[in-house]
Amino acid sequence: SSQPRLKPRAQMEQLRRAGRLVSEALAMCRRMAVPGCVLSELDSAVEAFFVSRGAQPLFKGYPGKVPYPGSTCLSVNEQVVHGLPGARMLQEGDLLKVDTACRLDGWCADAAVTLGVGSISSGKDRLRRVTEEVLQLAIRELAAGVKRRGLLSEVAKRRQLHAESAGFQMVTQYVGHGIGETMHEPPQVPNYFDRETLGTDFRLVPGLVLAVEPMVNMGVSQTKVLRDHWTVVTRDWLPSAHVEHTLALTADGVWVITSDRDDDVVK
Ligand code: MF3
Ligand code: CO
Repeated sequence: SSQPRLKPRAQMEQLRRAGRLVSEALAMCRRMAVPGCVLSELDSAVEAFFVSRGAQPLFKGYPGKVPYPGSTCLSVNEQVVHGLPGARMLQEGDLLKVDTACRLDGWCADAAVTLGVGSISSGKDRLRRVTEEVLQLAIRELAAGVKRRGLLSEVAKRRQLHAESAGFQMVTQYVGHGIGETMHEPPQVPNYFDRETLGTDFRLVPGLVLAVEPMVNMGVSQTKVLRDHWTVVTRDWLPSAHVEHTLALTADGVWVITSDRDDDVVK
């Protein structure tokens, strides 16, 4: 059905075990992503890490026009999401988005970070910072929203406004998602507001587990998919940033399932 399945506390604890692995994989990428690093090295390291911990990389083989070839999405500069981990070598000044997910003992977690390779331009740095602010704002507003049983649409609009008031554009062609026993479950989680998203609107209640993933562009919001069938780039080739956390809505606040800290609950 299209109704989100609510998760009891015990399942959230399981999700956290998967979330910790995703967080550790991203921390490893943060250390590795220096000038000269080849994208496929990052991908192999993440895959080996998940397998060594008994977890399954979830991106590998994901269905599409061609099955997804890696365990990570590695998107550089104007690439928004779903960048392929190939022979490209990172250069000083690149803005790298690392997105990955795993399943551990039947439970899935998904997260992404945006990293500067060496030192990056102040424009890229501001884009990265604002995108992180949008995610932090989403977490705080989801925590407030669940207390008053508000609607997602009420808090989604604020994300878009935060990006726009910094002079950037929110991507509207891709949205976040519910997550649990599979990587993509209902509901859809847009980072913006329009009449169409009202059709999939939902009430914020304890038990929802959502992957929230704002994508923010320096220039126009429009994107297109390259002929490799996966890589999403900005239409104007200006840089893009993307961050993601898996979040569990509870009666005591929002639990950041993919946090690098234990007991990261935002009240
Ligand atoms: N985090 C992204 C998402 O939620 C990446 C999945 S694309 C995949 O859709 F094909 F690589 F799995
Ligand atoms: Co996701």
